[in-house]
Amino acid sequence: MAEAPLRLAVLVSGRGSNLQALIDAIAAGSLHAEIAGVFSDKRKAYALERTRAAGIHAEALAPREHADRRAFDEALFERVAAIQPRFVVCAGYMRLISAEVVERWQGRIVNIHPSLLPAYPGLDTHGRVLASGDAGHGASVHFVTPELDGGPVLSHARIAVEPGDTPEALAARLLPHEHRLMVASVELLARRRVYLTASGIAVDGRALDAPLELHEDGRLYDRAGFVA
Ligand code: GRF
Repeated sequence: MAEAPLRLAVLVSGRGSNLQALIDAIAAGSLHAEIAGVFSDKRKAYALERTRAAGIHAEALAPREHADRRAFDEALFERVAAIQPRFVVCAGYMRLISAEVVERWQGRIVNIHPSLLPAYPGLDTHGRVLASGDAGHGASVHFVTPELDGGPVLSHARIAVEPGDTPEALAARLLPHEHRLMVASVELLARRRVYLTASGIAVDGRALDAPLELHEDGRLYDRAGFVA
């Protein structure tokens, strides 16, 4: 029997272009998932407009209406749990999630980050890449652990840094690669081909020794070749 579509909750804080990539891939039949709800820490996030336009359940909670970070995260994830997602996807969700909450969901939360992790966790990745004089840049999809942008990395998308690049130009050039990376990575989760073990990530039952790489064809490769 065919597997049911992977039931997702998506966390957002801003413009929501990665969320849109997931919505579009599901509509196009290239991602075997369903978005059961989208949750935000920002009531005015444009991502919530995209959510409503797609007819998807949307909720926003204000951090300042909670006693502290832990209380906010507990409230948010209570709402997330209510829709019973199999996975939580952080797609431009700009808050660090409390360790206690992350631990409860470990192995079931992924995040997209605009750098080749473990390089450049945190903010302003594009500016820091340029300041360091790096020849390349990229994005990562990783499992979320209590450490900021520090969990096991599932996949990378790479771009070259070009002469005259500004942080804005670099971010804009990276974005479509992020979208493809997000969709291809979540599709692997949807096909139940990837999971987190005590020692790291397993793909098709084998330990992953380096992040999968997104190629020009929009597919993910490991060192031995084509994966998905
Ligand atoms: C992306 O660059 C993502 O990697 C980062 O924040 C940005 C969000 O963009 N964490 P969007 O909201 O998906 O358009």
